[in-house]
Amino acid sequence: EQEVLRRLWTREDVLTSLPKREAFSHKGAHGKGLLIAGSTEMPGAAALAAKGALRSGIGLLTISTPEEIWTAVSTHAVEATYVSRDDIQFDHYDGIALGPGLGREKSTAHLVKKALSHDDIPLLIDADGLFHLKSYIKLLKKRQAPVVITPHPGEMARLTGLTIKEIENNRFQTAKAFAVNHGIYVVLKGKYTVISTPDGNQFVNDTGNAALAKGGTGDVLTGMIFAFMFQHQSLLSAICNAVHLHGMVAEHLTLHSHSKLDVLASDVTQAIPVVLHNFY
Ligand code: APR
Ligand code: MG
Repeated sequence: EQEVLRRLWTREDVLTSLPKREAFSHKGAHGKGLLIAGSTEMPGAAALAAKGALRSGIGLLTISTPEEIWTAVSTHAVEATYVSRDDIQFDHYDGIALGPGLGREKSTAHLVKKALSHDDIPLLIDADGLFHLKSYIKLLKKRQAPVVITPHPGEMARLTGLTIKEIENNRFQTAKAFAVNHGIYVVLKGKYTVISTPDGNQFVNDTGNAALAKGGTGDVLTGMIFAFMFQHQSLLSAICNAVHLHGMVAEHLTLHSHSKLDVLASDVTQAIPVVLHNFY
């Protein structure tokens, strides 16, 4: 039996794996990403995920969200372009992120199926995307390109049929079993986020604090992971670095200017540059 890893993802890991921006690079080299997110009830989730991606180096971002909220979302994601849900050309993109604020209506479920079926494109699924994924879980194994899921314990409970308590008592085992069984990367969020690879390797994060225990911070993380997927050689490093730095942003804010009560998800997007500046 092959030995698998289980260890902390350290600052040293970040320092050695965070890629430099090539001097002669152009926007096409930094990823053309499609973010399928947001709804009339949750425009902010799309904006936060977009902002997380835009602040983390993505080359080009297209947001697919209902047309009624294009104006609202674009106020916050000025650099993105927009496409309506019926006009998505999936194979135009280097990667897809799907889920934040998507809504749980039947009418959005087919987007998850479609994204899964374009199986040569890396796919990141979060939030309501995970709600719909439950119906298409068998499609995961057939996929060529990698899939990353970012459930919080409640979402993981629904996906696995376990209780939240069972998950919290067995974070490593639960994440690993799901990652290995479905051949995907699992980011089981919460304090000490666990990252599991399809091979059964596991990394744990120790950055971040309870300032992040608020609506919207998960959407920002989705954006950060998404952007990093295009910048890194290794998908594992991309995920772990995004999780580590997302937590560091919260720590930075509560150390220098904010309390754990008042940090907002939008503050996290604004403070990403301060933390990244230290590494670049
Ligand atoms: N310490 C460290 N990190 C934390 C802590 C903590 N005490 N609490 C939360 N976090 C981090 C998590 O690890 C994760 O990265 O904050 C983020 C929270 O993400 P989510 O739980 O997905 O929350 P979010 O999506 O922002 O908002 C919740 O969206 O996913 C839906 O059903 C969910 O309606 C809810 C909304
Ligand atoms: Mg969430």
